[in-house]
Amino acid sequence: MLPNIVLVGFMGCGKSSVGRRLAAMTGHRFVDTDELVTHAAGKSIPEIFAESGEEAFRRIESTALEDLVGVAGIILSTGGGAILSEPNRAALHKIGIVAWLDADPDILFERAMRSGKRPLLQTATPRGDFDLLLTARRPIYTETADVRIDSSHFDHDEAAHAVFDAALRFHHRGPAH
Ligand code: S3P
Repeated sequence: MLPNIVLVGFMGCGKSSVGRRLAAMTGHRFVDTDELVTHAAGKSIPEIFAESGEEAFRRIESTALEDLVGVAGIILSTGGGAILSEPNRAALHKIGIVAWLDADPDILFERAMRSGKRPLLQTATPRGDFDLLLTARRPIYTETADVRIDSSHFDHDEAAHAVFDAALRFHHRGPAH
């Protein structure tokens, strides 16, 4: 059976849209950790951050990831910070092939600001905070990902196909090739 694919990447990289297309392509079920967290908490992500803080959000996110270990037939879209803790990274690798959806910083920033609902960017200096987060996280995505796809010049369908091809190559040949 086709392995699970886990999409990681910075806010605005298109994980959810690309993940839905991948699910349609593969017949796998689309799962989104942000949706699982929202469901578990009974409130939106901005509400969780505002009422309980980021730590509380991270705890629910980690539990959602642990619960997915051993579940087959899924395309998983994760929140941008899901790679931050070592237990989360271990869970991501147990769940499936970890595909990093990357893009140019300007493109990521523009896309990330669109929804207006990302608590980490609801600050007085969103671009500066965005750049700080991206600089801190880029090495972690690099270290964590099995495959990296630069989606800067792709639409969602093209990105989904690129992820699918890269994940299959990784699955058949392994990381050393
Ligand atoms: C976060 C990214 C968000 C969401 C939360 C925290 C992050 O998901 O999980 O706001 O730390 O980068 P997206 O990457 O889908 O925006």
